[in-house]
Amino acid sequence: MSASRVRLAELLATLSLATEAATTGSVADLGLKSAIFSVNLGVEIGLSDDGLRDAFYLALLQYIGCTGDADIAAAVMGDEVGFGGEFQGIDFGDPFVALTALLGYVRRGKSIGRQIGVVMQTLLSLPKMAGVTRTHCELADRLAENLDVGDRVRHGLTQVFERWNGKGMPNRVRGSAIDLPVRVVLVAETAVFAARLGGVDTMRTVLRERSGKAIDPEIAARAAAKGEELLASLNVTSTWDAALALEPQPFRWLEGDAIDRALRAMSAFADLKSLYTRGHSVGVSDLAGAAAVKLGLASNDVTALRRAGLVHDIGRPSVSTGIWDKAGPLTETEWERVRMHSYIGERVLSRSPALADVAAMASLAHERLDGSGYHRRLPSAGVGMAARILAAADTYQAMIEDRAHRPARSADDAANELLGEARAGRLDGDAVHALLASTGHAERPRAPRPSGLSDREVDVLRLLALGLTNKEIATKLGISPKTVSVHLEHMYEKIGVTTRGAASLFAMQNDLLRR
Ligand SMILES: [Fe+2]
Repeated sequence: MSASRVRLAELLATLSLATEAATTGSVADLGLKSAIFSVNLGVEIGLSDDGLRDAFYLALLQYIGCTGDADIAAAVMGDEVGFGGEFQGIDFGDPFVALTALLGYVRRGKSIGRQIGVVMQTLLSLPKMAGVTRTHCELADRLAENLDVGDRVRHGLTQVFERWNGKGMPNRVRGSAIDLPVRVVLVAETAVFAARLGGVDTMRTVLRERSGKAIDPEIAARAAAKGEELLASLNVTSTWDAALALEPQPFRWLEGDAIDRALRAMSAFADLKSLYTRGHSVGVSDLAGAAAVKLGLASNDVTALRRAGLVHDIGRPSVSTGIWDKAGPLTETEWERVRMHSYIGERVLSRSPALADVAAMASLAHERLDGSGYHRRLPSAGVGMAARILAAADTYQAMIEDRAHRPARSADDAANELLGEARAGRLDGDAVHALLASTGHAERPRAPRPSGLSDREVDVLRLLALGLTNKEIATKLGISPKTVSVHLEHMYEKIGVTTRGAASLFAMQNDLLRR
């Protein structure tokens, strides 16, 4: 998105998909459906235009604080994303319901002895969990400040975990002291989740059960009375289009710096998922932008690349913090989850037309030119220059940050490793050199080639050392087999193919392979 003007609702709807992935591990449009239901229900109860807009924004942003407490949630539940996906829609505000779900989940598949230990540990962790909602709301408010949604919505975000009976969190606000748009959203969310499980009948049952406890009884009764009609509004081909069409006019737009501030808030949402990645995406964005300028990319592309840097890890929260922050080696299954975060991120970003070019770049951040990256394993031909720069920036930025399994590398060590990745054909050489030039690493004088070999002869020698035939070498390098033979002849001449020469050739091959 190099656009200078973007509709705010599009970014909020994207965040809604991202928070859904963060809380359940998948993207199923339930936030968008809640927004549609909220506006239609708001119309039913005579909410003002401002109230409808607030309810619309609140339904989309309800869970944006969820990554702020992911480490505590992961410590208690193990896989907090799996837990969220499995128990989505239950009344977490009811302590009995929440505890039953939690204990059932954390004990699953464990021996009796281990189950007792887990129950004890969970019960001891519960006081910590009580502070989680406050953290959640505080983070939501901080992020919302940069999203230009207005003070009323920010205030509403501090109330989305309150309950009609005053037994909610974090401030035990009761009844009509809870803002009206918040009460509408809480009824809408309850209705949408329940209807998904069993249609309009289940929806009415759940609304009745929670009426006067979790949710406003009058609004719940209105939703139940208009159940068929309200659910019919969710039966659309594109929930994205239907939700965006329901935002009350006039639409709000972000321009210039406001777009970048909003995207930085999205990056903070993603990076807070792990203790080790705070500020990561802003770092990637800055590095990629500086390298792109060095390489002379057009200013539109530089802007899009900076923005892609900010959102390239938007799928990170869909993977448990327990995996990101694991100190030991990852299992194959855990690696699978890690690779999935790139795919989920692409699904989250690809719905918004305004983010189309950013999504295309961001989804390639983890690819490698030899096809060893993820999630598409695209070889070099499928990866443009902007995405190559992004991959180099992401790799470098990660290297200079601590990770659970290793300390941060020094800038020099990171630069050397990055050069090694370029030599190995995984990262683009031009992108790496531009990035290192922009970080102030002097261009290193290249070590002289042994025996005066040319760059091309070294390329041939490397592939020969890997056991490739002349024909295979020719294909790899895009030259004819005859040219390979000529290179080999020159090379042997320079080295001298005697017994000693062959030994030195062998040593040299090993040396080159190590570089
Ligand atoms: Fe990253």
